[in-house]
This record gives sequence, structure tokens and C-alpha cells, in this order.
Amino acid sequence: MSDPRVYIKDESSGKSLDLPVIRGTEGEPTLVIKSLPSTLGYFTYDPGFTATASCTSSITFIDGGKGILRYRGYPIEQLAAGSNFLEVAYLLLTGELPSGDELDEFHHDITYHTMIHEKLNTFISGFHYDAHPMAMMAGVVGSLSAFYHDKMDMENPEHRMLAAKRMIAKMPTIAAACYRHHMGWPTAYPKNTLNFTERFLHMMFSVPSEPYDINPVAAKALDLLFILHADHEQNASTSTVRLVGSTGANPYACVAAGISALWGPAHGGANEAVLKMLDEIGDVSNVGKFIDRAKDKNDPFRLMGFGHRVYKNYDPRASIIRAAAYEVLEELGTRDPLMDLAMELERIALEDEYFVSKKLYPNVDFYSGIIYKALGIPRSMFTVMFAIARTVGWVSQWLEQEGTPTPIGRPRQVYSGPGERQYVPVETR
Ligand code: CMC
Repeated sequence: MSDPRVYIKDESSGKSLDLPVIRGTEGEPTLVIKSLPSTLGYFTYDPGFTATASCTSSITFIDGGKGILRYRGYPIEQLAAGSNFLEVAYLLLTGELPSGDELDEFHHDITYHTMIHEKLNTFISGFHYDAHPMAMMAGVVGSLSAFYHDKMDMENPEHRMLAAKRMIAKMPTIAAACYRHHMGWPTAYPKNTLNFTERFLHMMFSVPSEPYDINPVAAKALDLLFILHADHEQNASTSTVRLVGSTGANPYACVAAGISALWGPAHGGANEAVLKMLDEIGDVSNVGKFIDRAKDKNDPFRLMGFGHRVYKNYDPRASIIRAAAYEVLEELGTRDPLMDLAMELERIALEDEYFVSKKLYPNVDFYSGIIYKALGIPRSMFTVMFAIARTVGWVSQWLEQEGTPTPIGRPRQVYSGPGERQYVPVETR
């Protein structure tokens, strides 16, 4: 079968063009429009990139209509049930599941990059105690290139992989240090006898005066959340990382930019915003009022944790997290009235014509905050949790881009300002 092409005719000039169509592994057709400006003289207009693929990628597949998410071909449900975060990190970075020896080596590599330069702790202590941890994270991660520039030849694949591993390893250490600064607690150094997620819990919550026993329920739940947040193809923060990377900027600068993009409430900041919203709703009896507000075009209020650019079906991550939230609350023996409120909100929204017709379903952030809260993680750290996990996706996508010749990302615009006018000196204006 010959490659499909799409015929475009400009009636005004009579010129025409055959545009090639490329297809992804799952057959999704994509029109290649690069030649439009030079042949027909047109740019394309697509604010928010709702119809535009910015790259080809072999890392993550989403079918938003069917609610499918796969990392390197493996369904998220299988990885969530059988894998662990570090194995998933290896898979995303390299493309394949590791053998036992490869996993041990990867574990070793990540473990032995968990320390951060002591001056970074000094840097963190310079922030005011009530600084938002995402603000600290963006600053501290941006500064990493000032500390780790020993091997930063980005033409060298070994240097690139080292930078990627350093970032995955150091992100939890930095995150915990930011939290402890806020709490006024002394630094807890990474304990390398623990696994990735246990080590993070230890760095967050251990205090010098008491023994700290890691709760296996907490470690398992957090590891699951890390798996589910690890990558999500070309979302806003990942696209930011790729765009910054396309300029040749160093990977630490790229990831710092990704952290800033993630913080927005329309993206990773939604997990914090969901709990704020549930608090504001306060009681099941108020749900109807808030649903009405979310539907009112004149009210900026939106149901946080609802809706997604790509999923027009239940977000598969949300189904897994919803079930995990029940388990965690039960196993920890905690009852959270916010869980009842969230369920009632979901029930009403899923029956409401507005949400049904717009295909608005709960997303990954709807239930994650309830688990974080049950684990004792403060609200201001929720988006930081997302950042720890998504670092794996950011660096995997950055590595993929660095390994492929990529032009600088440089969108065009439709200029809508004044036409040419003459400058008038201030005294005659
Ligand atoms: N509550 C009420 N109405 C909504 C919502 C919502 N949460 N989300 C979308 N809509 C409406 C929106 O007003 C629009 O209506 P209309 O067609 O009448 O103008 C329609 O649904 C389509 O929405 P959109 O804003 O054009 O869709 P989008 O793809 O640009 O936005 C979104 C996606 C996630 C930004 C949006 O759904 C939203 O703001 N959700 C709340 C924030 C949130 O939960 N974000 C986390 C996303 S998942 C994790 C992540 O990406 O980090």
C-alpha cells in the first residue's frame, strides 16, 4: 500500500500540494506540514498545540479516547501491579526492562549519586522558612549545573546518562532538604541501605532524637504514585524541558524549567489545588453548589482534578489511585472525610450533563492528594512529589531528544498589533 497523502488546494492562488502522512506505531495519522510556508505561503495556527505533534517519541503511548497509557509498550496497570519505581525508571530511560544484574547496577548507580554538595544545603538555608517548596526546587535544581559541571559535554552519551542519573538520584534529597528547612529540622542525609522510596521517607520524616521505622504501607503507596507520575508524553512540563533542551541548554536548566511549568494549577499544581477545593466545599451538602459554579462560564472556578487535554475517558492512573487510596486509608486505619467528599463529588459530576458531554473525568491528581495526606506529606509538598517522579520522564525525553538531530523549538505567531506607525518624540505626544 502506498503512503497516504493529503491533497490541499488553495482556491485563491490555485496552487496545490500533496502533504505526506506519517503514522505512529498504533496507526494514528499525522499530517506533515513543514513544507506549507515554502510552497503555499501559509503558517498554521494552533494555540495550546491542541492538534500538533511536536516530536516523534518511542517512550510513552496514550490513547485518550480509550483511556490507555503505556510506558515503552507496557500497560500502566501491569507496571503498577508488578514493578517498582526504579525498574520503571530504567525502562523509561533505556527502552527495555532490566535483567536482574542490570537492575542491581542501576540501583547502585542511583544510590551512589543521592548525596548533594554540602553547599546546596547552605543555599537551601538561604530561603525564608515559609518559601513554597516548588519555588525552592526550581531554584536549587537550576543551580545544579553550577555544582556538577565536571562532566557536561552533552555530545557525549556517557555524560548525558550521568546527568540523567544524577538528577533522578538527587531530586528526593533536594525535596526532603527543602521540607526540613521549612520545618526547622537538621538535614537528614540519604541512607544508602534503603531503597529509593524508603530512603525518601527516611530523609523526610526521621528526626535525630527518635528511631524512625519506615511504614511498608507508606513506602508501597508512594512507590506506586511515583510509577504513575513517571512520564506522560508531551505534557506542558515535558514540552518545556524539550523546548529548553532544543537550545542546547544544560539538562539541569531544562529540568528546572520543567519544574516551573509543572507548578501551575492546570498541570501538576492541581493535586494541591484539589485538597484546597475539597476543604472549601467542606461538606457533601455543598457539592451541588460547587458543581454549579464549575459550570458557570462567568465564574473562574473549575473542578480541580477533573478534565484532561488528552483523556476523554477515565484517566487510567486515576482508577489505580482511587483503589490505592481506599487501601491506604484502610491499612493505615485512618478515616478521611475528604475521601467521602471526593467520592460524592465524582459521583455527581459523572452524572451531570455538563461533565458528561464535555467528557470531563477525574484525572491523576483527583485522589493522589488524599494518599499523600494519609502518609503525612504536607500539602505544599504534593507537587514536589509529582516532580520527583516526573524527573524520570523529563530526563528520558531529554535523552531521547539529545540523541536525535533536533532543530531549535521556535513557534511562529499571528501578529495582531498595530501596523507600521511613526515615532513621535515625547514632547510632541
Ligand atoms: N471544571 C469545569 N469545566 C471544565 C474543566 C473543569 N475541571 N475542565 C475543562 N472544563 C471545560 C472548559 O471550560 C471547556 O468548556 P467550553 O468548551 O464550554 O469552553 C471544556 O471543558 C474544555 O476545556 P479546555 O480548558 O478547553 O480543555 P483543555 O484541554 O485546554 O484543559 C485542563 C485541560 C486539564 C487544563 C482542564 O481540564 C483543567 O483546567 N482541569 C482542572 C485542573 C486539573 O485538574 N489539572 C490536572 C491535569 S492532569 C495532571 C497534569 O497534567 O499535570
